[in-house]
Amino acid sequence: MIRRLDHVAVAVPDLEEGIRRFAEDLGLSFEGREDVEAASTSTAFFSVPGTHIELIHPLAGQGPVATFLEQRGGGLHHLCFETDDIEGDMAHLKEKGYRFLSDGPKPGAHGKRIVFLHPKSTGGVLIELSQPTRP
Ligand code: CO
Repeated sequence: MIRRLDHVAVAVPDLEEGIRRFAEDLGLSFEGREDVEAASTSTAFFSVPGTHIELIHPLAGQGPVATFLEQRGGGLHHLCFETDDIEGDMAHLKEKGYRFLSDGPKPGAHGKRIVFLHPKSTGGVLIELSQPTRP
């Protein structure tokens, strides 16, 4: 079941410049960077009360974020909802006709398990579901 908005992701052509903008100019609290090999992305996180902003940039100039930047430049990329049962939500949404970008959850930033709904089945919004791993 979806519990909260985990983060809003913004694709940036220059990660250093993006970090400066959100940390120094907008004054958000910078939480750190992480390279996510499984998604071919470099990420940077900022906290905002109740949720986060995630900047995403291609790792080694390749992958789906590189394609996004080539086609559209930077901009809003996806919404991520935290769930407490990612497999259950996938099964429930598949029954309703939603499609996913992978057959099952993959490793995301912060050791979470993530999956993306296909934007063609969500009215054009790329939606990520994310389940924290239990300590
Ligand atoms: Co994300």
